Amino acid sequence: MRDFSEDKILAYLNGCNDNELFKLADKLCRAEFLDQVYLRAIVEFSNFCNKKCKYCGLRALNSEITRYRLDDQTIIAAASLAALNGAGTIVLQSGDDFSYSTERIGEIVRNIKRQHDVAVTLSVGDRGIDEYEYWFRCGADRCLIKLETTDPDIYQDIRCGESFAERLRLVKGVKEIGYEVGAGIITGLPGYTPESLLQDILFLTSLELDMIAAGPFIPHPETPFSSSPSGDTNMAYRVTALLRLLNQSANIPATSALDSLIDDGRKIGLTRGCNVIMPSVTPTANRADYNIYPGKNAVSLDGDNGVVEAKDMIRSLNLVPSASKGFSNKKVST
Ligand code: 5AD
Ligand code: SF4
Repeated sequence: MRDFSEDKILAYLNGCNDNELFKLADKLCRAEFLDQVYLRAIVEFSNFCNKKCKYCGLRALNSEITRYRLDDQTIIAAASLAALNGAGTIVLQSGDDFSYSTERIGEIVRNIKRQHDVAVTLSVGDRGIDEYEYWFRCGADRCLIKLETTDPDIYQDIRCGESFAERLRLVKGVKEIGYEVGAGIITGLPGYTPESLLQDILFLTSLELDMIAAGPFIPHPETPFSSSPSGDTNMAYRVTALLRLLNQSANIPATSALDSLIDDGRKIGLTRGCNVIMPSVTPTANRADYNIYPGKNAVSLDGDNGVVEAKDMIRSLNLVPSASKGFSNKKVST
């Protein structure tokens, strides 16, 4: 499936035949994963962030947000509940918050792995490669390091001076350590074009990732992009479907941002090439404060028990919520 021409991809991005594209992506996805959908339960353990990304509500300069940090026991309890409810993967996610030491995060990983037969994914931002090495030794299985865009100039602009080359070094570095690696982009960022999305798709594909995410941009009122329009959900579906065509065995989530823009956004994603759902299992008292964009973690999205609700959603599509860790098929087949 890697032989799609750039012209063909661009034509799909321009909406030449959504029906055909989505059907093709669904067919490939089902050929690869049969009726299984993987569950990754996210514990958003801190919304403090030292970065100033222009698109994100957690940016350090947003003083309108109620900041929280979960203590270790609360993080582990949330992870345990998710594991007992059938999540095969626990994602530990936060802003770039250096108040959690390397050892402390390592101990949380060890604790979860000791108690439950789950995979642990870290989504904790720009920490040192030595820290990622340490956490790998503690039992962490995967890293999520989003690129947001694969254009170095746009990256530097929207992440307020950060270096794309450094971020890419981190993606490659954690891969070398032995982690499964996920990356991804936001579709419909201010100034995007179908051509820039084509480049994003080709670049992400060239990285041979285990997981690839693409969610639509949603303007947050307390950011410099507050008056930019939301990303088009159809464009986000086209990008995920095309990523499926070019990366048959990759894990591709139906992102929560889809649900913030349209009803059943994630559910529809599962019929268009996506094979992963990532419900929030952050304690309900804090969940709405993990406000990356409006509508993110509206409590109604995942209810009191995100994993159980996600399983119901999967079953309503006649698909099967998988209790497996959902390692990438790429690894199994090589
Ligand atoms: N709209 C959509 N997605 C966003 N993210 C951050 N801000 C936005 C936004 N305004 C995504 C990024 C980030 C993840 C935590 O959420 O991909 O990595
Ligand atoms: Fe922080 Fe990540 Fe938001 Fe940037 S995108 S401000 S690094 S939480």
